[in-house]
Amino acid sequence: MDRIDFTGRTILITGAGGGLGRAYALDIAARGGAVIVNDLGGSVTGEGASSTMADAVVAEIVAAGGIAIANGDDVSSPAGAQAMIDLAIARFGRIDAVIANAGNMRFAPVEDLTAADLDALLAVHVRGSFNVARAAWPHMRTQGGGRLVLTTSGGMLGMGQLSAYGAAKGGVMGLMHNLAEEGRPYGILCNAVMPNAASRMSAGMSEGTLGHNPWGRVLGPSFDPRFTTGLVAWLAHERCTSTHSIYSALGGRIARVFVGATRGWDHGLDAPPTAEDVAAHIDMIRDDGAGYAIPTDIFDEFRIVAEGRG
Ligand code: NAI
Repeated sequence: MDRIDFTGRTILITGAGGGLGRAYALDIAARGGAVIVNDLGGSVTGEGASSTMADAVVAEIVAAGGIAIANGDDVSSPAGAQAMIDLAIARFGRIDAVIANAGNMRFAPVEDLTAADLDALLAVHVRGSFNVARAAWPHMRTQGGGRLVLTTSGGMLGMGQLSAYGAAKGGVMGLMHNLAEEGRPYGILCNAVMPNAASRMSAGMSEGTLGHNPWGRVLGPSFDPRFTTGLVAWLAHERCTSTHSIYSALGGRIARVFVGATRGWDHGLDAPPTAEDVAAHIDMIRDDGAGYAIPTDIFDEFRIVAEGRG
């Protein structure tokens, strides 16, 4: 297998001042890429700002002989996201990949979370991913393509005390599916990762949740952020042909995670199914053992139903 090489390529990594983003930045820079290391440098909940985190990662990369520039802007601001892309274009003349990794966290029972907490998470995860993708988009179109790697989370699968965070990460999944479809004609491929790593973010919730997750201790050694790096580097590289997909890195295993639809129960078009009809057929509606389809886009679900009817 040829080396995955980023020489001559420019990659923006948001939230790369620590944790997973730092690991991605070090690996991609070691593979020759010019990296824009963005980090707002605030707290884990997203308050405050300082360029020291991004500066430190850039210093590490440069000391190792790599190419990197720091940026301390806020991804939730359209102007901040634009400044990151403008920096890439001004310094390197191109933007080949964006890894939207910046994130904040509020871990609390739903009755203790406020609408402001939800807004703070949506701002960084959903609006931040949208902002950087949107700013890169015209350049990627002009260049004939690009790679967008968004960051979702097992949090969207559900867990107590993660309702606001899980909602934001579910939003990222929907954003990814849509950017992938819109980018397809232009060679802009978009995927999302579900990482699992020990970081300052996960440290805040680990102790409280380990009682419910005995497997966390078993898989613990894989929580080095570098267990996710290879997946992200591949998704950010021009050789990657995947789009519209979610990949989970957990315990050394990398797998595709998808939204699927069961074969279901088909009532036909003669009359609308009633609540009683649904109650009578709920086992069939839910039955994934009878097979399922993975719609490739919104129209594909229409196709699946229409063709399934024959
Ligand atoms: P982390 O807290 O070490 O990294 C997140 C970085 O984003 C921080 O350095 C922070 O300063 C930066 N950031 C926050 N708001 C920002 C903003 N508005 N603009 C620019 N930068 C901002 O946490 P970690 O674990 O490395 O998380 C990276 C990503 O992976 C996040 O999106 C997180 O939600 C996601 N994730 C992490 C998991 C894990 O197990 N660590 C599990 C699933 C998802």
